[in-house]
Amino acid sequence: MTALTLTTSGAATLRADVIVVGVAKGAAGPVVAAGAEAVDKGFDGKLATVLETLGATGAEGEVTKVPAPAGFKSPVVLAVGLGPLPEKDEAFGAESLRRAAGVAARSLTGAKKAGIALPVETAEDVAAIGEGLLLGSYAFTVYRGGEKKKTAKSGEKSAAKDSASKPPVGEVVLLGAKPRDKAHKAAADRAITLTEEINRARDLINTPSNDLTPEAFAAIATAAGKEHGIKVEVLDEKALAKGGYGGLIGVGQGSANPPRLVRLAYTARGAKQSLAFVGKGITYDSGGISLKPAGHNETMKLDMSGAAAVLASVVTAARLGLKVNVTGWLALAENMPSGSATRPGDVLRMYSGKTVEVLNTDAEGRLVLADAITRAAEENPDAIVDVATLTGAMMLALGLRTFGIMANDDAFRTALHELAGEVGEAAWPMPLPADLRKGLDSPIADLANMGERMGGGLVAGIFLREFVPENTTWAHLDIAGPAFNEGAPFGYTPKGGTGSAIRTLVALAEHTAAGDLG
Ligand code: BES
Ligand code: MN
Ligand code: ZN
Repeated sequence: MTALTLTTSGAATLRADVIVVGVAKGAAGPVVAAGAEAVDKGFDGKLATVLETLGATGAEGEVTKVPAPAGFKSPVVLAVGLGPLPEKDEAFGAESLRRAAGVAARSLTGAKKAGIALPVETAEDVAAIGEGLLLGSYAFTVYRGGEKKKTAKSGEKSAAKDSASKPPVGEVVLLGAKPRDKAHKAAADRAITLTEEINRARDLINTPSNDLTPEAFAAIATAAGKEHGIKVEVLDEKALAKGGYGGLIGVGQGSANPPRLVRLAYTARGAKQSLAFVGKGITYDSGGISLKPAGHNETMKLDMSGAAAVLASVVTAARLGLKVNVTGWLALAENMPSGSATRPGDVLRMYSGKTVEVLNTDAEGRLVLADAITRAAEENPDAIVDVATLTGAMMLALGLRTFGIMANDDAFRTALHELAGEVGEAAWPMPLPADLRKGLDSPIADLANMGERMGGGLVAGIFLREFVPENTTWAHLDIAGPAFNEGAPFGYTPKGGTGSAIRTLVALAEHTAAGDLG
C-alpha cells in the first residue's frame, strides 16, 4: 500500500519522481492552484500558459505532464485538473480535492515517490487529499503475476503492458501540510486508517466467489476482529438451523458452501450510544432456482459488498477508538441452485417467527437481511443501518454512482443523506410508500419475498421494514449501483469493488460518538 507522509520541505528541494500540482478551470483559461507557487516560480510564473499550450483546461480528470524547471530535484511536474475555479475567497471543495488526488494517484503507478503540491490550508484539505491519494492508488493484484498461476484472462497479451500491472506509487509526500500540526497529523492518520479499511473491503469484493465463501469471509472477519480488539462470534449452519434462522438457511441451503452469521462487537469505554450495522453478504448470487440469465451472472461476486462495508466500518470505528458502541452483523450465504435449494413457492419460517413465501429465489438478500435485522434489534441499539446490493431497480432509479437511503424515521434518513454529502458519497433519499405494502401479501404465508415490479427498490425496503421492531430507528442503504464499478476508473474510484457506504457509516459513528446527532 502507498505510504502517506507530511513534509514542510519545498517542491524544489524534494527528491521525488514527480511533483503533482493542481490546475483549475478559470474563466479565461487554466489557473494554477495554491500550493504550486514554487513550481510556478520555476516556470517564471508562466506554468498556466505552458499548460494551456499543451491543451490543459483545468477540467476534472485531466492530467498534463511537463518537465520540471531547472534546479528542481524531481524531474517531472504532473498537473491534475481540479474542475471549476471557486469563487473569490472560496476554497476548493473537499470532494474536488479528493477526486483530483485520486486521478493523480492513478497517473503515478510505477513511480516510487511523488511530492503533492495541491492546495492545502486546513486539516480537512489534508484529509481529502490523503483519502483521494490512498484510494486512487488502490490496485487488486492478488490474481496477477506468476506465469504458472496465470489464468486465461490475465494471460491475454495486453495484460503485461497495461497500467494495472505496474505497482501503485510507493510514497506520496504532502507538501504544505504540517507534520507538527496536531490537526494535520490527525487528519492524515484518520485518512490512512479509513482508506486501509476501504481498500480491504475492495479486496474482499474483488475476490472471486470460489475463494471467498461464507466460511472464508467469516474467518477473515474473525482475524480482523482479533487484530483490533473486536469481539467476534460466528454462527455456522448448525447453529443457524438450531437458532431458527430460516432466511439464512433457506438462501444458503442450495450451496456446497454453507451460510454464516457473524457478529462483530466493538465496545468503547464510556460510550453512551450504540449502533448496529447489518450487511448483505451473498458471496455469490446466481439467483438460485430462479436462475439469473447469462449476462447477469458475471459480476455477482459483488453481492457481499454490504457485508464488506460493515466489516470495514466496525474495524475503522475500533481503530479510531470512537466513543460509541458499534456492532456489525454479516449475513453470509451463497445463493445457488441445486437439489437441496429452496424452490420458488417454498415457505420459510424466519428468525422473527414470521413466515415468508419465496416467490423468487433471486430476491434472496432481503431474506438473509431480515434474520440479521431481527437479531440485531434484540440488543436494542439506538439505530440500525443495513447496507446491501439489494435491487437492480435501485440502479434503474439512481444510476451507477448513487445509493438510495430509505428509513422508518425521516430525521434519521435526512441525517444520513447529509453525512453522505459531507464525506463525498453520492446518495439520495427514497420513500417507502404505504401502497406498495399490499403487493407483498402472500395467499398462504405472512409475507411474500417479491411484490410489485414497479418501485422494486422501495418494495425491498418495505419488506425489510416488516422485520424492524416498532420504536427501533432503522435505515436501509441500497448500494447496488455504486458498490461495483464495471466501467473505467474515475477520480479515486477504481474498476471493480469501490467500498461504497463505508465513509458514510464511519461518519455516522463519529457523529454519534460526538453526540451531535440527536
Ligand atoms: N443482488 C441482486 C441485485 C443486484 C443486481 C445487485 C445487479 C447489483 C447488480 C439481488 O439479489 C436481486 O437479484 N434482486 C432482484 C430482485 C427481484 C427478483 C425482486 C432484482 O433486482 O432483479
Ligand atoms: Mn438475487
Ligand atoms: Zn443478491
